[in-house]
Amino acid sequence: MKIENVAGPSTALNAPEWVRHTALKQWVTQVAALTRPERIVWCDGSTAEYDRLCQELVSAGTFRPLNPTLRPNSFLALSDPSDVARVEDRTFICSVHRHDAGPTNNWMAPAEMKVKLGKLFDGCMRGRTLYVVPFSMGPVGSPLSHIGVELTDSAYVAVSMKIMTRMGRAAVEALGEDGNFVPCLHSVGMPLAPGQADVPWPCNKDDKYIVHFPEENAIWSFGSGYGGNALLGKKCFALRIASTMGREQGWLAEHMLILGVQSPGGRKHYVAAAFPSACGKTNFAMLIPPPVFAGWKVTTVGDDIAWIKPGADGRLYAINPEYGFFGVAPGTSDQSNPNAMATMKANSIFTNVALTPEGDVWWEGMTDTPPAKLTDWQGQEWTPDCGRKAAHPNARFTAPASQCPSLDPEWENTQGVPISAFIFGGRRTTTMPLVVESFNWTDGVYLAATMGSETTAAAAHKVGEVRRDPFAMLPFCGYHIGDYFDHWLETGLRLPGPPRIFCVNWFRKDENGKFLWPGYGDNMRVLQWIIERCEGTTGAVESPLGWMPTEGQIEWGGLDQSVRNSFRQAMRLDREDWVRELLLHEELFIKLYDRLPKEFVLRRELLLAALWRSPEQWSLPAG
Ligand code: GTP
Ligand code: SPV
Ligand code: MN
Repeated sequence: MKIENVAGPSTALNAPEWVRHTALKQWVTQVAALTRPERIVWCDGSTAEYDRLCQELVSAGTFRPLNPTLRPNSFLALSDPSDVARVEDRTFICSVHRHDAGPTNNWMAPAEMKVKLGKLFDGCMRGRTLYVVPFSMGPVGSPLSHIGVELTDSAYVAVSMKIMTRMGRAAVEALGEDGNFVPCLHSVGMPLAPGQADVPWPCNKDDKYIVHFPEENAIWSFGSGYGGNALLGKKCFALRIASTMGREQGWLAEHMLILGVQSPGGRKHYVAAAFPSACGKTNFAMLIPPPVFAGWKVTTVGDDIAWIKPGADGRLYAINPEYGFFGVAPGTSDQSNPNAMATMKANSIFTNVALTPEGDVWWEGMTDTPPAKLTDWQGQEWTPDCGRKAAHPNARFTAPASQCPSLDPEWENTQGVPISAFIFGGRRTTTMPLVVESFNWTDGVYLAATMGSETTAAAAHKVGEVRRDPFAMLPFCGYHIGDYFDHWLETGLRLPGPPRIFCVNWFRKDENGKFLWPGYGDNMRVLQWIIERCEGTTGAVESPLGWMPTEGQIEWGGLDQSVRNSFRQAMRLDREDWVRELLLHEELFIKLYDRLPKEFVLRRELLLAALWRSPEQWSLPAG
């Protein structure tokens, strides 16, 4: 994006000889003239550079080194308490026309936003270092990959980008002299006056803006140093900007994990699954099957984002554009996710977790008995009876994917992996069954589009309210969500045999608030049925909503009868709940009405009709 009206001499560019891209150098010069950093550092992505930046972060008080025996080469960062999650109400899609952002995105005219941002960025890096962080989303050189360059005044962001993306010299070299890149500009928004001491977690408490210009493929982020607000390769580029690129170029950018499943027969399938933030993608991607599944193997390609494109053979191929995991820490344990625990045993960054007296990390759910004493995420002394959480509910680990024991051997395949099934799952205490297979592609797109989920601590808003979260993309779709539905319909219906679409809900509860389904590794039982449906080797019964497994079609080995009983309860469809649900679908449809695919209106009517012809409480037939 062009930056105008910048005055004054700028800081020395310091571009290394391996940077041959004229427009990139020009852009960095312009940004420096606007933001006035003290110096410019071009990141080459080397280990030496990573170590040096981590040491600087330690000196600055941002990082505390963890015990090198317990957690080698790892660091803890505690953020400002006002900067702990994505800020959805400060996130904007600035398309030229308001209607192209659609009713689910915040919008401002690009010209107006640029004036606003121009003022905020004017001098905003004073006293700080401007890091030039080139990165590739996806393996360097893959036809499915794209390159970005983030300019940031946060060393925390620079080192996090080293873990989360293929960062450094190779990305710049792939650009050559004139390759395309997505310009990502980021500032914590806290300039330092001469002599002013820095704080451990600089950010701007008053002003935060996470802004996307889809027509220019540009990103400007101001005021936050945390997660998706600041690591711009992730949600801003790989989802919001990439979704608009994918719509124009015929591919999909999705909030999906990718996993591989190998059955004892040796057939390998890949599935991609979309669950909203903090609803179990990392857990599912790293699933360890229960003992009864001897011979089955689940492998991890990605845990958060999938880029998916039709291949020449008519199948959909997916890559994980990321290089690491930025995972929710609370609830992660050797019981719930041993693979994640192993991934972060070294070379990791922890943000907003608690510190043990031995210099290791801790969070709620990591162990059954909490340590007697901790330093909590706000740096305060913590004891089990103090009444506060030791870790922030959205505390995260940042760990290299290469350290994951379940990593799939094809995870860096430049052609991607072929997708056999899509799975969509919200966090729903009621209404939604444990699993259902859609009748066909259009019906599956309908189910994904009308998905609801209870909000989580991943974003700064009220936690636990049900909201529509179509395709788990509500906060991440870079254009009109009605057009997005249309793009999905088009993409699948053009394929000779599109993947099957399933919906799951691990989170349904009984009247006493107890989960009806054991979840975690036992999700393998549902995954097996899904894979066998794809292979055509298992049956299903027709429900008003779609195809469902009977009790007899699920593997129960190792579980007792009570789980089977709650399975039946978790599969029930209550008409009263569903009438309410369909009204919420209608509410969404009215919001989008002029760009709503016609199929959806008809599909809703069919669903309503099916519910009326079924018992008030539909349940699985015995057997
Ligand atoms: P983002 O990184 O925010 O996109 O989220 P994610 O979908 O990767 O979230 P993650 O896997 O870290 O989800 C963590 C939350 O899901 C924790 O509260 C877990 O306890 C819960 N969770 C994960 N799997 C299951 C499951 O099978 N059953 C139940 N009941 N909870 C689960
Ligand atoms: C999410 O919120 O879906 C995340 C974490 O994956 S963040 O990168 O902060 O958006
Ligand atoms: Mn996510």
